[in-house]
Amino acid sequence: MLDVEAIRRDFPILSREIHGRRLVYFDNAASTLKPVQVIEAIADFYKKHYANVHRGFHTLSQEASQMYEEAHETLAKFINAYSWDEVVFVSNTTEGLNLVAYAWGLYNIREGDEIVVTVMDHHSSMLPWRRIAEIKRARVRYVGVTQEGYLDYDQLNEVITEKTRVVAFPIASNVLGTINDVKVIVKRAREVGALVVADGAQSVPHVPTNVRELGVDFLAFSGHKMLGPTGSGVLWGRKDVLQELRPFKVGGDTIRDVTLDDVTWLEPPWRFEAGTPNIEAGIGLAKAAEYLMKIGMENVRQHEVELVRYTLKRLVEELGSEVRYYGPRNPEDKTGVVAFNIRGLHFHIVAQALDYLGIAVRSGMHCAHPLHYALRISHEDSPPAEIPQSVDERLRRFGSVRASFYIYNTKEEVDYFIGALTFILMVREQLKTKPVSAVCTGT
Ligand code: ALA
Repeated sequence: MLDVEAIRRDFPILSREIHGRRLVYFDNAASTLKPVQVIEAIADFYKKHYANVHRGFHTLSQEASQMYEEAHETLAKFINAYSWDEVVFVSNTTEGLNLVAYAWGLYNIREGDEIVVTVMDHHSSMLPWRRIAEIKRARVRYVGVTQEGYLDYDQLNEVITEKTRVVAFPIASNVLGTINDVKVIVKRAREVGALVVADGAQSVPHVPTNVRELGVDFLAFSGHKMLGPTGSGVLWGRKDVLQELRPFKVGGDTIRDVTLDDVTWLEPPWRFEAGTPNIEAGIGLAKAAEYLMKIGMENVRQHEVELVRYTLKRLVEELGSEVRYYGPRNPEDKTGVVAFNIRGLHFHIVAQALDYLGIAVRSGMHCAHPLHYALRISHEDSPPAEIPQSVDERLRRFGSVRASFYIYNTKEEVDYFIGALTFILMVREQLKTKPVSAVCTGT
């Protein structure tokens, strides 16, 4: 198991006070905090080794290039890739998924083809494919979600057909935490010869990942959700597919040669890392991956399962009738994400009240609006049966509060959180009078 007290000492920001109380950081699905090891790796690079990569014979450029290339190797090890050149550094999951959509989709999707995504998708997985479908006059089809928060596997055979060219899905939901059955999805996609693109933003930081076993063609994830810097991320791709792909962004560092008539691309991954990359972010991400490997991803997973088990037990059993919880009830089926609403109290007000008590959570629809509409996730007792036409009305009436855990969170923090919710319930009537518009900035 994890030595959480030792881990906590690595995170300087955890000693911050928020409104006079010790910070409880439960917004890890949005972004995680950073350990000193990562912060120092970035500072060390700037202080001692900084130069551009792949462009100089001078010593600093050679050192920087070596560090940057080794960072690719570390990330390959983290996900058990066959080799480092299957690992493309991108700025985040969104960029990785857009890269696949544009680099593969523009050249391989034709009019009348079908692209399958899921209602559970983060917008970053869904929208790039909707854009490609629009450009290529293809059709987007959706795998639905059950009320219990699982993908509706019964629909797979009907939705994924001989016309399907791509199946894109999240390995874990950023709202419900649901860990999807990758094997079942891959099996069906393979039966029809579709490309399989997995959004690993909410799974790679939380569950052990082995791309050799996953069976997908592409996997994208973000560094900032796994202790690394913002602006870091990975698109892993199967080597034969990457080699066939033309770059999505073109420019410096993507080419071997250019004449006025022709271009010879570099081999992957450099072909896909156009322009001066975010060098320090890649180096920092490698340090984060080393930190997690040292702890052991199995231990990370177990820690989150225990925290979720404990939270759900207290939330559902003690506050159950006043708090609506969304997603699988079995902690083994999900990551450390707990989305809920307090009946009758607006989710943004709940988040702000929690902040007054030092607890950081996210509220709104968490970049997964279609999922909130499909499951009618709302603080209201009677959410509208028909989805309103007005965007403002939809943003006001649908949403949830999301607490999400990571390696430095403790059961004591969960106790404090449950106490905070109990208090908010006691003052619910007073809080209801607060104007939501004053705090409603996020969706
Ligand atoms: N995608 C991140 C989240 O779910 C930002 O919060």
